[in-house]
Amino acid sequence: MEYRTLGHTDIRVSAVCQGCWSIVGDSTWGPQDQHDSIAALQACLDAGINFFDTAEAYGDGYSEQLIRKALGDARGEIVLASKVSSERLDDPSSIKSACEASLRRLGTDTIDLYQIHWPSPRANYGEVMGAMEQLRREGKIRAVGVSNFGPGYLDDVLAAGRVESNQLCYSLLWRAIEFNLHARCVEEGMSILCYSPLCQGLLTGKFATADDVPAGRARSRLFSKNRPQSRHGQAGCETELFDAIAKIRQISDELHQPMGNVSLAWLLAQKGVVSVIAGARNAKQAAENAAAAEIRLTSETIARLSEATEAVKAYVGANADMWEATSRMEKRP
Ligand SMILES: NC(=O)c1ccc[n+]([C@@H]2O[C@H](COP(=O)([O-])OP(=O)(O)OC[C@H]3O[C@@H](n4cnc5c(N)ncnc54)[C@H](OP(=O)(O)O)[C@@H]3O)[C@@H](O)[C@H]2O)c1
Repeated sequence: MEYRTLGHTDIRVSAVCQGCWSIVGDSTWGPQDQHDSIAALQACLDAGINFFDTAEAYGDGYSEQLIRKALGDARGEIVLASKVSSERLDDPSSIKSACEASLRRLGTDTIDLYQIHWPSPRANYGEVMGAMEQLRREGKIRAVGVSNFGPGYLDDVLAAGRVESNQLCYSLLWRAIEFNLHARCVEEGMSILCYSPLCQGLLTGKFATADDVPAGRARSRLFSKNRPQSRHGQAGCETELFDAIAKIRQISDELHQPMGNVSLAWLLAQKGVVSVIAGARNAKQAAENAAAAEIRLTSETIARLSEATEAVKAYVGANADMWEATSRMEKRP
């Protein structure tokens, strides 16, 4: 496993992070056996993954409890990232109690990286960052991160304090941040942590057609507005999407590597990317994802993979919000 430094901290995180949303099993992911979730988390540790990303919102705290159950005895070996929900930002005094509740569920005294899950248009970021800094001074958190922050919100938050990372949706099939956000994060020295790096499983090649994709995942802007849980009202780009997947499969077959791992390796080769947050749901997936950190793609392969997804990139455009036509990541007047 490769380890990289988080922002300007001395925290070293594995290049592959375990995302702890899908292991809760919910309306997006469908049912999940707890034994599989625990086994997935333990398999991550065995494979050298030391970085675990969760949120108070995942399963309403259940994800944090799962981490305690599976990894409680290994607290000294792991880096824990959690998130405070955006509605707390409107009343910054509630950030402290949210953090303390996460600490209790995680069974720890400190969260290594505490992230703001989404921006809120109503927040006073001076007060929000004041509350985060107070938590840092008290030792309840070690570092502050944000997630889904577009350039305008970054201005606000950076004017008020130090932020080590921006957790963003980024994958071969979701390259929206490349338009105007990626360069900004690099400029600010913020680590980019990539969520949904397998595009919610699409990049593992497990779905042959758009109709095979379960409703919870087909609600992203890549799919037609006619998919049942969709709320974006747009046409989607299902043809371009499955053309791109076929091309990525071809390149991966030539390399004799799983498509998912080639896709993670492509991300890990991008500037500013420190870790890819992949959501393994069982031990087998966890071990496979960890192996992606060992793959070194040539610049020619990286260029071929980028080329394969240009049409999807053009369709998605600069709106990095996976689910809404009007990006919640952009500040509006
Ligand atoms: N900050 C945010 O707003 C935000 C938003 C989304 C996600 N996240 C974070 O990012 C993490 C990952 O994102 P994600 O779960 O949306 O998407 P993802 O990691 O791109 O995809 C997860 C899905 O891919 C499949 N998968 C994973 N590894 C596999 C493997 N080796 N072989 C075959 N299938 C595999 C599993 O699907 P099956 O169910 O089919 O097995 C799993 O449910 C989350 O857990 C969370 O920590 C953050």
